[in-house]
Amino acid sequence: MKNIAIFASGSGSNTETIARYFSDNSKINVGLILTNNPKAGVIDRAKRLQIPYVIFNREVFYKSDQVLKLLVDHNIDLVVLAGFLWLVPKNIILAFPDKIINIHPALLPKYGGKGMFGHHVHESVIAAGEKTSGITIHFVNEKYDDGQIILRKEVEIEESDDAESLASKIHLLEHENFPKVIESLLV
Ligand code: GRF
Repeated sequence: MKNIAIFASGSGSNTETIARYFSDNSKINVGLILTNNPKAGVIDRAKRLQIPYVIFNREVFYKSDQVLKLLVDHNIDLVVLAGFLWLVPKNIILAFPDKIINIHPALLPKYGGKGMFGHHVHESVIAAGEKTSGITIHFVNEKYDDGQIILRKEVEIEESDDAESLASKIHLLEHENFPKVIESLLV
């Protein structure tokens, strides 16, 4: 069995989509959900999905090995960041070489980096008058949105799109592609 850990800071729709995609899979399992945000929607989803979850704070994440130990204790093979807003500390990066991936709701390297998350990304893309946006799935290193790209998928931006409608289109694209990429990295 290959085990996935998912880090999420918000609603967790990608987390739920990934968990459901693998729910009947005998070889791949979402074993742990982790969040830095005690109010994150992903917590209710974890409860509903009956997947163990852990809430941690900044001190624990950056100044101890507790989160790393959790990943090791749960035999995690792949770490997935799905709307996780904190940089991953060095101890975890070093312990999981090429085993941590992130999804970004734009076509990197454009519209990435610190502060480029959630609606900020889509508002910037719309304000710049871009004709396309999309998703980027990439390996994670110690910088925001910087690791090697695994997959990019484009979506067209219509005249009538605003940040909100673009976000919806991008979420659909994420849900369609993220589980498949995860699967391809684990088989
Ligand atoms: C996604 O758009 C993802 O690309 C970004 O944060 C959002 C998370 O959405 N990094 P959800 O919490 O999975 O619904």
